[in-house]
This record gives sequence, structure tokens and C-alpha cells, in this order.
Amino acid sequence: MSKSILSASILSADFSKLGNEISQCESAGCDWIHIDVMDGHFVPNITMGPFIVETCHRISKLPLDVHLMIDNAEDYVESFINAGASNITVHIERDQNILRTLQRIRSLGAHPGVAINPGTAPSSIESVLPFLDMVLVMTVNPGFSGQKFIPEMVEKIAAVKTMINAQNHAIRLEVDGGITGETIPLCFNAGADTYVAATAIFKNTGGIKAGVEELSHFIK
Ligand code: DX5
Ligand code: ZN
Repeated sequence: MSKSILSASILSADFSKLGNEISQCESAGCDWIHIDVMDGHFVPNITMGPFIVETCHRISKLPLDVHLMIDNAEDYVESFINAGASNITVHIERDQNILRTLQRIRSLGAHPGVAINPGTAPSSIESVLPFLDMVLVMTVNPGFSGQKFIPEMVEKIAAVKTMINAQNHAIRLEVDGGITGETIPLCFNAGADTYVAATAIFKNTGGIKAGVEELSHFIK
């Protein structure tokens, strides 16, 4: 079984001290930094672009896990990879030519991933599995941090895991949304191995280190 990965989503970070908060994640044992890119079209929120990825790349050695919640993702993957992205995950729901986008991500040197929204069936990603390094199962509706985990998604995680097991190469199974010390075990038992968390890390009342420890407790 692959090692569990904890990916800290800076969507809930205090941007007035981003460098300091990212270093705290790094020393507390986070494996990746997750960057949520939103365009106000695919989701009702606008967040970060390549400029922030480039900033994170300068201040941290951790792999940058870039989650694109945007229309026309193919047009932007190159600028995110040039800015330092290690993984680029695009949504299946809006990309008519998803395979071309995934091939482009790989040819530019990053790991391609596909994300599926809570209302999207696992079968929608079946034909692209051979081209993926990661599947991201959204456990909230995309757009905002601080939402409540949707428990019905546990079954979907298990269904995606079965599909991944039928492939003959390693594919990570990432979960994103409402991940806490309570929901991590549900996801882990269903087959997830990669966990994104924003609120549970950056808004933990005991601080970032305590947040990371609470999440790591079950998976490491
Ligand atoms: C939501 C984003 C998530 C978000 C998670 O659309 O993809 O990465 O930051 O936030 P929490 O962990 O607070 O649910
Ligand atoms: Zn995300």
C-alpha cells in the first residue's frame, strides 16, 4: 500500500504571513502544499493563479499540488507547471478533451490528476484511468473551504479504489473537503491515501502543528 500523504490547502492560510504558515506546515510534517485555483465560472469563487504557485515554489521545497477548478484548464496548465506545480488536477466535468489536457500535463513534466465533484459518477473517469497518476474525489461541493464532509462520498471513494485496483499502475486516491480527525479514518478505510485539509490545519485553535498532528494521528 502506498504511503499516506497530507496535502495542506493554503485556501485557509493567513496570506499576510503565507511564508511562515507554509514553513510551519513543512516542519509539522505535511507532505504537499495544495493550491486551489478558482475562476468564478466553474465554481462561485475566485482565488489564486500561477503567481501564487510561483511564490510557494520560492518559499517551500514541498511538492505543489495544484487543483484547477477553472474552465479551459488546458490553456493554463503550462503556466502553472512553469510556476513550479508538481501535480495538476483538472475536473472531468468541464473538459471536452480531457485526455489531451492530461497528456499535455505529463508532457510538460507534471503528474496528471482528475477530480470528480460529489454529483459526478465514478464511471465518468474510467476511460482516462490509464493516463492518470491521481484521482481526486471531492467530499464537498467545490468552491470554499470550511464546508462539511458529505458522508455519502465514502461509498464513492471505495468504488473509485476498486477501479484503481484494476489498473496495472499506481494511482493515488486523494480526498478533498471537510477532512478532519473524524473523517480521515472513514476515507482511509474506504481506500484513500492522500488527504487535503485547509480548515483543520490552518484554523486549528491549537495552531498549525496541532492541526497536522491531529490529522496525522490516524494515517501515519
Ligand atoms: C474546495 C477546495 C478544498 C478546500 C478544502 O473547493 O478544493 O481544497 O480548500 O477546505 P477544507 O479542508 O476546509 O474543507
Ligand atoms: Zn482543493
